[in-house]
Amino acid sequence: MRRVEFCLCTAAIVAAVALQPEAVSAGGHDYADALRKSLLFFEGQRSGKLPDTQRVTWRGDSALHDGDQIGIDLVGGYYDAGDNVKYAFPMAFSTTLLAWGVVEFGGEMGRSLYRAREAVRWGSDFLLKATADPGKVHVQVGNPYADHDCWERPEDMDTDRTVYTVDSQGPGSEVSGETAAALAAGSMVFSGADPAYASQLIQRSMAVFDFADRNRGSYNDSLGRWVCPFYCDFNGYQDELLWAAAWIHRATGKVYYWDYLMGNIHLIDFPFMVGEFGWDSKHAGIHVLIFPEIVAGGSSNGDLLGRADEFVCTMLPESPTVQVRYSAGGLLFKAGGSNMQHATSLSFLLAVHARQLMRLNRAVRCGGEAVAPSRLVELAKSQVDYILGDNPLRMSYMVGYGDKYPQRIHHRGSSLPSALTHPGHIGCKEGTPYYLSASPNPNLLVGAIVGGPDMLDWYEDFRQNPAQSEPTTYINAPMVGLLAFLSVAPNR
Ligand SMILES: *[C@@H]1O[C@H](CO)[C@@H](O)[C@H](O)[C@H]1NC(C)=O
Repeated sequence: MRRVEFCLCTAAIVAAVALQPEAVSAGGHDYADALRKSLLFFEGQRSGKLPDTQRVTWRGDSALHDGDQIGIDLVGGYYDAGDNVKYAFPMAFSTTLLAWGVVEFGGEMGRSLYRAREAVRWGSDFLLKATADPGKVHVQVGNPYADHDCWERPEDMDTDRTVYTVDSQGPGSEVSGETAAALAAGSMVFSGADPAYASQLIQRSMAVFDFADRNRGSYNDSLGRWVCPFYCDFNGYQDELLWAAAWIHRATGKVYYWDYLMGNIHLIDFPFMVGEFGWDSKHAGIHVLIFPEIVAGGSSNGDLLGRADEFVCTMLPESPTVQVRYSAGGLLFKAGGSNMQHATSLSFLLAVHARQLMRLNRAVRCGGEAVAPSRLVELAKSQVDYILGDNPLRMSYMVGYGDKYPQRIHHRGSSLPSALTHPGHIGCKEGTPYYLSASPNPNLLVGAIVGGPDMLDWYEDFRQNPAQSEPTTYINAPMVGLLAFLSVAPNR
């Protein structure tokens, strides 16, 4: 599942390294370095007025008038991927995952902890602006058709910056629910470091949740072609409402939210676990998030106890209930483009669950076989190591990590000359030659993880193939916590 991108898809022929079924070297990866780089990527995705502390200096201020059309301030936030639209649905999910990484693994982040908090704040600051008006959530800035029709730097962007909004007349419980989840998870990140900010985040989160719950509906219906097929809500909004309630309960301990969760979880509690977790599907995340409370006896529904374990069993290649596939080189696969989002977000859940199981001294059972938490760690680590270079092509899929990594990522800012070296305006269609060029991108978007190789472990380093070469915030967001976890040898 991936939104539609600008694509002049021609037969893709590009000189690239031939696939050789070589033995894969055993990593020895510098996870702390990859963590630092992952956080730099979020600086490269910033929209708005860049601060003095900005380290990705080939980027400049952009979209400084977002919101002007309706007389409000919507400056800031993240571009989701290689384009210049601000989509709150994936932006909020990325913020939630960044925050979850800090909540769970912040203690292992060392000097990157401060940067990780700043990455959360860049998202949550925008989400506060987008929800400042009670009864409304501004869910997208920028006409996606006009934007995708251009190959322009964010700093030059001159396409229509329409603000798309949900309210009681045209609701959007999925995007509002995810926004509430992000604000609640963010409040946990700042509860010690900036209590006033944390309090602002959780108050807003509860108000937004209330709005999302009272005005139920999908933004598919209220915003139509402005959101579909970009970040269409495929699987409904029930999961986001429960996800938000779970996060608010985690942040506040308020019984109301737990009761809401337990009273409504049957709406998403299928007789089988869905082996999926991403910007559209929160089911597995909910079950992993609430697992400690379920174990502690927080529910009379006995079935819930096994759900997180069932999720794990859908991931393990040796499990009889496995729902994902693995390439010969070992990368997890699900249908659709931008596969790496599945590898990172599902591995993140495995790491969180492994940690929980270790703390509770429990194992998982898949088809009668006991699975130790260390097996979950091993699987998550294998995915991260694949991404960082232990794969048949022996290349890193993180820009700027290792000796060999993608050079032609599908990303407007990275592929066009920097405003530092080319201050003149490059208009909408004037960017096309840069898009079509076979040359490497001039600006390294350090830390960006691309959509990744195909099922045959083959990667085409080709800008015109966004399913493989485009980075996104929701590929990187789960990596932040995951890399922190791996950087301290969690198996010991
Ligand atoms: C949103 O639209 C997509 C594509 O048309 C559809 O598959 C999906 O079921 C819709 N979701 C909701 C919640 O209506």
